[in-house]
Amino acid sequence: MGRLIVISNRVSVPSAAGAAGAQGGLAVALNSALRTHGGIWFGWSGQETAEFTGHLDMQRNDGVTTATIDLEPQDIDEYYNGYANRTLWPLFHYRIDLTEYDRNFGEGYERVNERFADSVFPLIEPDDIVWIHDYHLLPLASILRGKGVQNRIGLFVHTPWPPTRLLASLPFHDRLVASMLQHDVIGFQTTEWLESFLHYVQKEMGLKVGLDNTIEYEGRRIVARAFPIGIDYPEFSEAVASPAAAEAHDRLKASVRGRKILIGVDRLDYSKGLGERFESFARFLSDHPERTGNVVLLQIAPPSRGDVASYQQIREDLERKTGHINGAHADVDFVPIRYVNRGYPRNQLAGFYRAADVALVTPLRDGMNLVAKEYIAAQDPEDPGVLVLSQFAGAALRLKDALLVNPHSVEQVAETIQRALDMPLDERRRRHAKLLAAVRDEDVSHWLDQFLRTLEDEDGPVEAAPEPATQPTTEPACS
Ligand code: G6P
Repeated sequence: MGRLIVISNRVSVPSAAGAAGAQGGLAVALNSALRTHGGIWFGWSGQETAEFTGHLDMQRNDGVTTATIDLEPQDIDEYYNGYANRTLWPLFHYRIDLTEYDRNFGEGYERVNERFADSVFPLIEPDDIVWIHDYHLLPLASILRGKGVQNRIGLFVHTPWPPTRLLASLPFHDRLVASMLQHDVIGFQTTEWLESFLHYVQKEMGLKVGLDNTIEYEGRRIVARAFPIGIDYPEFSEAVASPAAAEAHDRLKASVRGRKILIGVDRLDYSKGLGERFESFARFLSDHPERTGNVVLLQIAPPSRGDVASYQQIREDLERKTGHINGAHADVDFVPIRYVNRGYPRNQLAGFYRAADVALVTPLRDGMNLVAKEYIAAQDPEDPGVLVLSQFAGAALRLKDALLVNPHSVEQVAETIQRALDMPLDERRRRHAKLLAAVRDEDVSHWLDQFLRTLEDEDGPVEAAPEPATQPTTEPACS
């Protein structure tokens, strides 16, 4: 295989995260692929500049070359805060009530994708393989093709893909999807999102989808497939065994003085269902007064996308809700919800997960959700905790031995918390063993290997990891 050119909105520079363990499993895996194959990780620096010059900041850290560009304030506003996070993100998470359609956003999105293409184009050599990530850069491949790039180009969509009827509400949706068909491989997290995409290209574009999920379009053959992403299991196991994890575990345990611990760890995003989760916990406390004072919910929620109004709103809502619930159920020496608006290094998180009796991973919609997998990997197999998982997270397709819930049903989640806390040891062990096998088998190196092998292979898709099959031509229910 030639060199690898990874392109994503954000770039994770290895040395900036370093020993603190701040780098996520995906970044660790992509960096290791870049070390193996050589190549460059290209994207936005996260910084702004008064005037876009296309200047590339090239760095080499820990065997990985990164190249980043700065963007103008208007770019950041219209492309990142605008089209990416006020239009596509809510739409892709089934929230058309929050989706804003503003012409300037669309123009800014296209302008920044052009800027990405102009800047990365000179870096691409004829044998390179190009791998684009996520909803920020859906039309990038078509712009690169327009410049004459003939390399193999793959796209991985980390979010859900919405049902056709929702996507059809996006102005120029047809143009956006047609531009995606300039990739050679398009990957989704699960068969559910894949089916929505295939449904769209069949119903809206009248294209044929082959039995091996190939799409023929303008003389090009595109492979669309599900590649469920996982955690870096060996790396995370090391984090679990680290002294920092042990310290974090002991610190949390000591602080609750024998009480049971529920944990949630999520970026502060409306798709994560935090408000519904807090209400479910409040309902659990009201339904089981004998438990009040004996169970603590630790919710870690680092703020995110703070320039976007819907994120400011969810933050205010959660502060109000936490205050209300704590006011109603707290005692002089007890607060039921510990709501923490900051992130922690991964090895400390690993310790918190291990200390928790139950994890609440209850997004309203999520492409995959790696917190669920990390929680499983962090447990003591002899005395594991219980995973309560939303049926609307991509992870639920494989983690069937979790307690699956509808996060919109406060009653069901409240009852499931009770069931999780009462679950006998042998059932906990049995479920955990099956969940751990799934997390191990489908780890991030497997994902990376499957995607890159498919992208490299000009003749057809390599064999996929088996996924629960459903009919590719029917539209998934819009729940
Ligand atoms: C999701 C997206 C990623 C994004 C991340 C953090 O996981 O799929 O592309 O990087 O959220 O969001 P942010 O806006 O802070 O990059």
